[in-house]
Amino acid sequence: MKKFITTPIYYVNDIPHIGHAYTTIICDTLARFYRLQGYETFFLTGTDEHGQKIEEAAKKHGTSPKIYADAVSAKFRSLWDYFDISYDHFIRTTDEYHIKTAQNAFEIMFANGDIYKGEYEGYYCVSCESFFPETQLIDGEYCPDCGKKTQIIKEESYFFRLSKYTDRLLKWYEDEENCILPRGKKNEVISFVKSGLKDLSITRTSFDWGIKLPEKLNDPKHVMYVWLDALINYLSALGYTQNGEKMDFWNDTIHIVGKDILRFHAVYWPAFLMSLGLPLPKHIAAHGWWTRDGKKMSKSIGNVVNPKEVADAYGLEQFRYFLLREVPFGQDGDFSQKAIISRINSELANDLGNLLNRIIGMSEKYSNFKINSKDVLKFYADEMNETKNYLKNAVENLEEVATSRYLEELFKALNLANSSITKYEPWKMIKNGENEKALALVALVANILAKVAVLLSPAMPQTAKKIATALNFKINTAIYNKIIVNGELLDFLAQKTQPLFNKMEHELMAKPTEEAKTKEQNTEKSTQIKIDDFKKCEIKVGTVLECENIEGSEKLLKFKIDLGESAPRQIISGIAKFYEAKSLIGKQVCVLTNLKPAKIFGHISDGMILSAESSENGERKLTLIGTHANTKNGAVIG
Ligand code: ME8
Ligand code: MG
Repeated sequence: MKKFITTPIYYVNDIPHIGHAYTTIICDTLARFYRLQGYETFFLTGTDEHGQKIEEAAKKHGTSPKIYADAVSAKFRSLWDYFDISYDHFIRTTDEYHIKTAQNAFEIMFANGDIYKGEYEGYYCVSCESFFPETQLIDGEYCPDCGKKTQIIKEESYFFRLSKYTDRLLKWYEDEENCILPRGKKNEVISFVKSGLKDLSITRTSFDWGIKLPEKLNDPKHVMYVWLDALINYLSALGYTQNGEKMDFWNDTIHIVGKDILRFHAVYWPAFLMSLGLPLPKHIAAHGWWTRDGKKMSKSIGNVVNPKEVADAYGLEQFRYFLLREVPFGQDGDFSQKAIISRINSELANDLGNLLNRIIGMSEKYSNFKINSKDVLKFYADEMNETKNYLKNAVENLEEVATSRYLEELFKALNLANSSITKYEPWKMIKNGENEKALALVALVANILAKVAVLLSPAMPQTAKKIATALNFKINTAIYNKIIVNGELLDFLAQKTQPLFNKMEHELMAKPTEEAKTKEQNTEKSTQIKIDDFKKCEIKVGTVLECENIEGSEKLLKFKIDLGESAPRQIISGIAKFYEAKSLIGKQVCVLTNLKPAKIFGHISDGMILSAESSENGERKLTLIGTHANTKNGAVIG
């Protein structure tokens, strides 16, 4: 049993934002879901680094496309590492093996008679890297997809015989019910194909930053069209035309994409695959578009949601839950702090977090933390059956990438558990001497929670693990088969634990401001800096005088640091998961001292303590940077 799950490879002209995080988190959830079921899973993500758009962006930043791509690609990769995304491989289209596979594929399509040389004359949108016939343009010159101005290009070009595949494409959409998900999106694709497919220009000559054609063609002025290059990444990662090592994953492939690029995946890509004589993907699932506070996100407005900022403010698992739950898959969604707070408070803290507390509390009181399931079916067979249905629906929904409905079904099961407690009032049963029935109720709700935790683990791995630890079981394929597939019940030995989620009282992220906008624009100007830029940072040695945890926060420590100034400074730092507060007192640290003070969790923070961060086997590691020998407080680093 093998599954191949892919994200789009993201262009390196933009830094990661909430839309990229959304697609990647959906794929991560699917990969974890199939691994849980015992599938061998290959989860692929990466970056798309060639083409006119990247060449132009690099030029604007005053650097070469490769140096530019290296820097931005690393940003994507490190964000996915920070988010503990369980990708199996990160591909870059500048990787040698990819370049080779793209050339091999071009050669095969050429040999099959699907590529011919001609001249392209028409309209091109650099932002979408897409050609358009004049009839589709808005006001005769603007891109119908993104609204930007198109360019007229006239150049020698190789063409792919896309039109030849019209009937086979239409037959595929008809035969394979779920080839495009949600199924409703299929009509758009069909009508695009029916409106008439033109042969596709697949090489360019007016710039250099792309993959050269196979040597055999002896036509060095051409580079491959970036979309042909990019789509082939899905095959290069599997070793296609090279060692072919992973090609057996290809038979069960799911591509997750945003609706902006559905046409490339559902029309061009299957046609390329037919030309290569390869099977078509099982599913291409297209999700909707995120906006912020009802507005389109854009760099020039300065309102782009930074996914790291959201995760740092509200918690990574909370962010994952929000993204997956907030909008039905395929529809557009809106990010607002109000919306995420409401999900956290009502669903995560109340429905899920409180249920665990109630179970632990009851089991402590009634049975010394022991939960025995022997009488569950005797008293609560109906509830167990109802639960089974919800779980089955959850699984079926996730199989169709209906992420929101999958979570809804799990929460229906949690609500059943919560309402059973209210309905049967076990405390009254105990008073009335119906101990057996009361203990069976605790076992019922504990089993519901355990089953939900197993099925929630793909979406919220850490939360599920905490629940499993509190109930003393492990989440793995064996337990999935036992309690989800076979529907068995477990006995538990519960233990006390921290609340799963804190309720949020106020918004934790600053609103996008003019200042944020200029800052973002400035930091994006270049990936390299001059020494004068570095000198703007004032970094000094200081000694930790006091350090304590901040109440209500798992992450933050409050420091008083002697920086050789007239009074110690207060600095808040998000390192509580890595250091015990007391252990840092007396230690020397390095502090960025000319950072504008900020209020974090209601406390003023005047500076930033520097640390080194990395990720090992998916686990985030963090070490404070100190001095090698005792140094005078206030010594300047540079
Ligand atoms: O198109 N809402 O790369 P790209 C939701 N390199 N999703 C969003 C989003 C938003 N506001 N913004 C971006 C490319 N996305 C090509 C792909 S694949 C062979 C080549 C997500 O950097 C969404 O998944 O423009 C969308 O499809 C993708 O980022 C586009 O990323
Ligand atoms: Mg794009």
